[in-house]
Amino acid sequence: MDKLMVEGGHPLHGEVQIGGAKNSAVALIPAALLADSPVTIDNLPNISDVEVLAELVEHIGGRVNHNGDAMTIDPRQVMPMPLPNGRVKQMRASYYMMGAMLGRFKKASIGLPGGCNLGPRPIDQHIKGFEALGAVVTNEQGSIYLRANELVGAKIYLDVVSVGATINIMLAAVKAKGKTIIENAAKEPEIIDVATLLSSMGADIKGAGTDVIRIEGKEKLKGCAHSIIPDRIEAGTYIIAAACMGSDVAVQNVIPDHLESLIAKLDEMGVDVDSDDDAVYVKGSNNRLKGVDIKTLVHPGFPTDLQQPVTSLLAKAQGTSIITDTIYNARFKHIDELRRMGADIKVEGRSAMVNGGKRLEGARVKASDLRAGAALVIAGLMADGVTEITGVHHIDRGYESLEEKLKGLGAKLWREKMTEEEQEQLKSS
Ligand code: EPU
Repeated sequence: MDKLMVEGGHPLHGEVQIGGAKNSAVALIPAALLADSPVTIDNLPNISDVEVLAELVEHIGGRVNHNGDAMTIDPRQVMPMPLPNGRVKQMRASYYMMGAMLGRFKKASIGLPGGCNLGPRPIDQHIKGFEALGAVVTNEQGSIYLRANELVGAKIYLDVVSVGATINIMLAAVKAKGKTIIENAAKEPEIIDVATLLSSMGADIKGAGTDVIRIEGKEKLKGCAHSIIPDRIEAGTYIIAAACMGSDVAVQNVIPDHLESLIAKLDEMGVDVDSDDDAVYVKGSNNRLKGVDIKTLVHPGFPTDLQQPVTSLLAKAQGTSIITDTIYNARFKHIDELRRMGADIKVEGRSAMVNGGKRLEGARVKASDLRAGAALVIAGLMADGVTEITGVHHIDRGYESLEEKLKGLGAKLWREKMTEEEQEQLKSS
């Protein structure tokens, strides 16, 4: 087990290349199971969530070939077997195997998914969608069983706007008989990306990216090639790091439109930020950044996944900022750790009150989840001295080559093996 050491105070400058979107990749790999010939996906991020999904696909008979950042999935020999609990529990997005297996085999059996602990993360809307399509869903000893004689298109209104439910229902509905309409659908760019792959496979999907998606089911879907969109959250993380410590940073291979809500907030704070077709430029950091209030919302609002990283920037800005997470009410486990580093932040209900402008000091901190890890790395870049971050496996789930990319920008960070005593302390904390 490693810990990540970050020596603060080094200005960032230069270019960083953003990889493919994690939250697309984890849906596109299961989507490939719906084809009757191989699917090649490229611009895949090199992160552990992708590896775990590839292992899941292989476990049920799929063939997976890696070639650089491309993966070819041959789904022809896949069997409708129960999915192994261990790997399923390692990540949230294993729930996409439900929609994909249900679409292909009309049945699936899978343990309850794990992933970041951000408070309650029910999957009732996924289940409601599957049931509307004709599946019988039961929960037996911690595993979910889905069975249908046939899947028939239906009109489904989501009570909660959910990325996962929207995609999962799409995965099953592309193979259902007749028309499915998903109302109050999520509009995140990753949903459009999944719809693009499914359409290349021969699916008929209209309206992805709006709140009404119409799907005409098909009996057969074929293999194809697809390139994943850039990861807007990885990009946002580097943009925020550059706003904290940058002197001149270009964040390359991004779709700036996907980052509008972040760029608007940075502008309001006084960060010098600019963009062109596929890059965002952060011109410089200064010590007179203004605190702002931020509320996370569904796309195109401010993404909850950047709430934690941006809190570290708000800790640097002058004045009081209030950041409210309307998507996850307990996504605040980074706050205690930031306080350990000297930040003045209080959590009340769904909001964190940041009294900015305090100098941060390196400390021993723990990443409780993926984006909490990103927030602590950013705080470490700003802090005096060295910050020791444990729980690095969370960061590895979603950030490809984090150290190399930051080192390329001039940061100083490295991994060290944890002693047995430190590992024990981590387990019991
Ligand atoms: N919700 C329900 N019922 C459901 C589904 C969701 O009540 O059946 C609620 C959730 O509890 C939450 C809200 O609806 O309060 C939104 O959840 P959503 O389903 O959209 O989240 P998700 O699909 O589980 C994805 C990303 C998350 C990201 C959210 C919101 C993946 C694999 N995960 O999760 O990404 O925070 O959408 O944008 O796509 C991350 O990358 O760090 C991450 C956690």
